[in-house]
Amino acid sequence: MSPPQRCAAVVVGAGPAGLAVVGNLLEKQLGKIIWIDPYFQAGRVNRKYREVPSNTKVALFQAFATAVQPFQSVINSSRIPNAFTTMAKLDQEKTCHLHHAADVVRALTEGIVKMDQVYACRGHVTAANLNHTRSWTVRIRGLGSEDEMEVLTSRLILCTGSSPTQAPVPVPEDSVQRLDLDVVLKPSELASTLPQNSPSTVAVVGASHSAILALLNLVDLARNSHPHLRIKWFTRHPLRYAECKDGWILRDNTGLKGRAADFARQQLEDSTLPTSEAGQILTRIDCSGGQEKESAQYQRHLPTCSYLVQAVGYTRDPLPDLSIAGSLITSNDLNWDSSFGGFTDRNGLVIPGLHGAGIAFPERVVDPYGNVEHAVGFFKFMKFLKRVSPQWAT
Ligand SMILES: Cc1cc2nc3c(=O)[nH]c(=O)nc-3n(C[C@H](O)[C@H](O)[C@H](O)COP(=O)(O)OP(=O)(O)OC[C@H]3O[C@@H](n4cnc5c(N)ncnc54)[C@H](O)[C@@H]3O)c2cc1C
Ligand SMILES: NC(=O)c1ccc[n+]([C@@H]2O[C@H](COP(=O)([O-])OP(=O)(O)OC[C@H]3O[C@@H](n4cnc5c(N)ncnc54)[C@H](OP(=O)(O)O)[C@@H]3O)[C@@H](O)[C@H]2O)c1
Repeated sequence: MSPPQRCAAVVVGAGPAGLAVVGNLLEKQLGKIIWIDPYFQAGRVNRKYREVPSNTKVALFQAFATAVQPFQSVINSSRIPNAFTTMAKLDQEKTCHLHHAADVVRALTEGIVKMDQVYACRGHVTAANLNHTRSWTVRIRGLGSEDEMEVLTSRLILCTGSSPTQAPVPVPEDSVQRLDLDVVLKPSELASTLPQNSPSTVAVVGASHSAILALLNLVDLARNSHPHLRIKWFTRHPLRYAECKDGWILRDNTGLKGRAADFARQQLEDSTLPTSEAGQILTRIDCSGGQEKESAQYQRHLPTCSYLVQAVGYTRDPLPDLSIAGSLITSNDLNWDSSFGGFTDRNGLVIPGLHGAGIAFPERVVDPYGNVEHAVGFFKFMKFLKRVSPQWAT
């Protein structure tokens, strides 16, 4: 292995959050940034969610794409037509399919990786060790080769993303086949995954954005191509919507918006379900009232289902092995603190130079009613980084 080279920052992950981090750090002209990702293709939004309708306005994707000067340089030097001009033509006040947002992130990434201050490395960060001089030695495994390299930096930023959560269910796991939520959120793949001409029932768990879009896709499928498909919807709370208040949004991060909110209001509420199209295909299973009642509902209804899809949130993807002076940092010793965009150990001491952003490390926000949420979204990542990244530069 060649001797490690030194750089100003190492950014792990090239989804929207990693891109936003690189854009913010470039503006600060700190020196060379090493950026690592196996694909450099806009992360999960491009790989998995191109067919998902957005729950944010087009204007917010535009605001993300023009928020930092390096992004503007990429846009200004791109041949027309391009992903930015396509997005600019959409109604800015409406939502759009995420393929538009993914294409903008891909186009920005393509331009950013060509910049002199960026060294883009296709591969995985497998480990990082902090030594007594507050320098991280970051180990990178390149794609398609056994070669590993090490780099030294005082700033390591984790933008490693999250994947759908799988929770245990109180029935034997082999009694029902699990469906990948990512597949259910992709109608073109869902159609070929489920049997077309034999009866099957899909259990959908949850009542947030992912769950409602899963229901919407399954109802569409049953109406259009899979007439024998039925749905059991396991939900433990009423439908919750984002609400515009005076200058702020109640449930901005957890409430239903956009197409999911329209579908839920029109077809899934207790008042509409019995007569809606969805109601002809779907049975609501009330799982409220505590764990015992919830468990009883699963035991009663899940055995009649052929498939199970859980839409119960997202869990951080595995992180590289992190250590300090050779001792592995355990999960107890790695506490995310979005107030400064970094991590503390079990004693509350800051782990020097380690930062995070994106769906895996979102900002904790408190609304005027005192509700706590996590700010997940392209422009929310950008706003957060504008606040905290100046501290990383010092
Ligand atoms: C279904 C869905 C719909 C959404 N819709 C919207 C929306 O409409 N509007 C909005 O603003 N937001 C939306 N979001 C929220 C958010 O913008 C996306 O989740 C976004 O993709 C998160 O970006 P990220 O960069 O944090 O993570 P990701 O997109 O997951 O990117 C992480 C990247 O890190 C790489 N990586 C991981 N580990 C390593 C490693 N060890 N070494 C190197 N690379 C690594 C991965 O390969 C990946 O490329 C949605 C989220 C979901 C789940
Ligand atoms: N573009 C889009 O429309 C779209 C689509 C999907 C996701 N997203 C984004 O992605 C992020 C994640 O959204 P999400 O909808 O997947 O998840 P989420 O907002 O994290 O919500 C998870 C939901 O799962 C429920 N839940 C957790 N554990 C459960 C269990 N064991 N059984 C039943 N329910 C359980 C929670 O209910 P409790 O409150 O009862 O715990 C909560 O409602 C958000 O930022 C969202 O905006 C956007």
